[in-house]
Amino acid sequence: MKAFSQAQFLASSAGSADMPLPGPPEIAFAGRSNVGKSSAINALVGRKRLAFTSKTPGRTQTINFFELGDSARLVDLPGYGYAKVPQALRAQWRTLVGGYLASRETLVGVVLVMDARHPLTPLDAQLVEFLGDVRLLALLSKADKLTKAEQSGTLASVKASLRADVRLFSSETRQGVEDCRDLLEGWLSPSSRPRK
Ligand code: GTP
Ligand code: MG
Repeated sequence: MKAFSQAQFLASSAGSADMPLPGPPEIAFAGRSNVGKSSAINALVGRKRLAFTSKTPGRTQTINFFELGDSARLVDLPGYGYAKVPQALRAQWRTLVGGYLASRETLVGVVLVMDARHPLTPLDAQLVEFLGDVRLLALLSKADKLTKAEQSGTLASVKASLRADVRLFSSETRQGVEDCRDLLEGWLSPSSRPRK
């Protein structure tokens, strides 16, 4: 699909009141802080700095919407699980991200990004449970940090414990990028309807 190469920033939202009106189907990127959600979006759209990334966990604090022409949107969510985040901010995360995931009528699926070295933490499992039957792709990010043997082991164990598509991914080496783009394009095809 040409759309992935036409990505543009649409809006940044700090609360339900300032979210862009629902439009084309949306694919949201969720996961712990610092696992590479924003980097994955950049890799998928072939841009270096469309979504802001950082070495410091907690870079993304707002929900950021990117449009792929007028056919779809990618949604970069703030990460969870960063130990230093104060309690008040965690509650804010739940309201903001939980609210979006629970009620966005144009959401067609969630990409759960997990560091391939530490997949399926308790918070990831909680999110999977919260999502219920929302379509899910698990990206095992930073795969470049693992040997081939470690990659196979992680892939097999996550596949065994998740009812979802699972892919190894690296924004650095671009491993898995084409494959994931194809998979997500499938979610956006006309026969894939939003859940409501
Ligand atoms: P928050 O917005 O804080 O939730 O983080 P995020 O999940 O959006 O992570 P981000 O994309 O900002 O990346 C965090 C750090 O990991 C940055 O220093 C990236 O350069 C690095 N990183 C991201 N993806 C990869 C990857 O595939 N391989 C390697 N080696 N580093 C990566
Ligand atoms: Mg981010």
